[in-house]
Amino acid sequence: MAFNFSQGAQGAARYDAKLVILGASGVGKTCLGLRFVKDQFVTYTASTIGASFLVKELTVDKQKVSLQIWDTAGQERFRSMAPLYYRGAVAAILVCSITDEGSFEKLKEWVRELQANVNEPLVLAIACNKADMAEHRVVPYNTAAQYAASIGALIYETSAKQNTGVNELFTEVARKLVSSRFRTTENTSSTPRNPLPDPMSDMGERRRGCC
Ligand code: GTP
Repeated sequence: MAFNFSQGAQGAARYDAKLVILGASGVGKTCLGLRFVKDQFVTYTASTIGASFLVKELTVDKQKVSLQIWDTAGQERFRSMAPLYYRGAVAAILVCSITDEGSFEKLKEWVRELQANVNEPLVLAIACNKADMAEHRVVPYNTAAQYAASIGALIYETSAKQNTGVNELFTEVARKLVSSRFRTTENTSSTPRNPLPDPMSDMGERRRGCC
């Protein structure tokens, strides 16, 4: 897993991790990023053009992690730009809205694209957003959870609006990255080497490269 290591001002180790947010237009990718990084929510957001970039430092399991978050545009016309943002990423958050069945299908398309195009191990997480709109739910939690299990992904129901599940989502992704990084270190210190424990290992035969 490609982690960049840097030394903070106090000499403390910090890991720079590139994280990409993918999903259909309007599911709340920008709002999730803004909620996590700035604790803000806006009811009107202009559709993202290309991508936007946010950084958040956090500490998990006593490790400083700098999450470098690429919030991609969900509109179809920007789809061809997505590889620019997911290349080199060590984690991907795939977002759908619980009120939009099509967005869940789109999420699966993104997973297939990552499987086909990313060679490095990738921590995957699914965010079923707009959980505050339960009365309009069309994506059952169990359906999404079964799918997440089938690809070895974390899953959270989130509401950027009500600030539920958002910190948990990003923090758990960071935690999984940190623990993967330590497994990498342990593995490289001994020979002969076994293949790295793969966070996506339960994808079995369907796994192609990344996830
Ligand atoms: P693109 O930039 O087009 O890819 O969209 P996006 O996925 O970034 O969606 P964005 O964050 O711009 O949110 C789209 C709309 O959904 C906005 O009107 C938000 O206010 C609303 N929204 C986002 N998250 C939530 C949520 O958790 N609950 C509710 N009720 N609305 C939300």
